[in-house]
Amino acid sequence: MDARATGPTPDSVLQTRLTALLGIRHPILLGGMHHLGTSGVVAAVVNAGAMGFITARSFESLDDYRADLRRCRTLTGGLPFGVNLTMSRREDYNRLVPDWIRIAFEEGVRLFESAGSSPEALVGPIHDGGGILVHKCPSVRHAVTAQRLGVDAVALVGLEEGGHPGANQLSAFVNGAFALERLDLPLVIGGGIGSGRQIAAALALGADGVVMGSRFMVASEIAAHDALKHRIVASDEHCSTTILGSLGDTWRVLANDSARAVQRLEAQGASDHAAFGDLILSSRTRQRVYQRGEVEAGIVSLGPAGGFADAIEPAGRIVARLVADARAACDALAGRRVGLPA
Ligand SMILES: Cc1cc2nc3c(=O)[nH]c(=O)nc-3n(C[C@H](O)[C@H](O)[C@H](O)COP(=O)(O)O)c2cc1C
Repeated sequence: MDARATGPTPDSVLQTRLTALLGIRHPILLGGMHHLGTSGVVAAVVNAGAMGFITARSFESLDDYRADLRRCRTLTGGLPFGVNLTMSRREDYNRLVPDWIRIAFEEGVRLFESAGSSPEALVGPIHDGGGILVHKCPSVRHAVTAQRLGVDAVALVGLEEGGHPGANQLSAFVNGAFALERLDLPLVIGGGIGSGRQIAAALALGADGVVMGSRFMVASEIAAHDALKHRIVASDEHCSTTILGSLGDTWRVLANDSARAVQRLEAQGASDHAAFGDLILSSRTRQRVYQRGEVEAGIVSLGPAGGFADAIEPAGRIVARLVADARAACDALAGRRVGLPA
């Protein structure tokens, strides 16, 4: 008998608790991206059937933030999209969080991704407004705590994550396998995922979806200079390195001159963030790398998944390729299962 007559259809195999929770076609989240996660790329992934989160912290004013939510609503024609709330360890940096949530609700947004610290203060306001909260964290223990605090889904990232994977030195798939033993909530895994076969592997593991970032750095809608995108397209799995681990603030970034300069300062004993001057400031990255295209001149969050990028292309095309490859990998697995002796 044809394997496909009895097995799941290619479409149903990608349907999970996450796609049901968020009302999306594909179990792929584009996580928050500081300075880059704005309406253009978020709308593009949403229109392609995945989910994206506008990064509230990226905006210079609340008016700019609100205007971008409105732009995204127009671009998506009313499809749901999300907002990323990146919490800081410094309380004074979190004073706008209640406004970010209020404005999101006022603009009809009800999906949120939180990251950075405990979601405790977010669950109440988001649920009171009828919202859904996916909390992103780097360790199984944090995931279990988030479940107890009442979040609706957990995104668990491994050490391969572009950005801030925390001090936990475990991979996405190790974290994910342990988390599945301890969580009842929909579980998303991320970090290092840049191909459809990895999405299929995440689903085979039992995860409900993936969260991605680095693979989308080359999307045409990402507001970064093409010089950076060409650099990432030309790179491979060794495109990233980590900095600031010596300060307990591990950051996975593009392996460029600025990252190497930071590593040298760490080796010389630099012991607080101030010791790195403006080298590690996000304003420097925005101006010199994202705007001017000086790819060596600032720190860029990036993980090895950037190595999968092979062209600058629309985000919707990246989603479509990922989904087609994930389906092919699921089909191959199903075919192999059917081929086993009884
Ligand atoms: C350039 C860049 C900026 C990011 N900025 C944020 C951010 O502001 N807030 C956040 O929660 N995650 C941020 N992330 C992490 C992503 O949302 C996502 O969790 C991560 O990229 C997944 O791992 P991957 O890069 O290996 O795909 C960023 C990632 C990248 C590549």
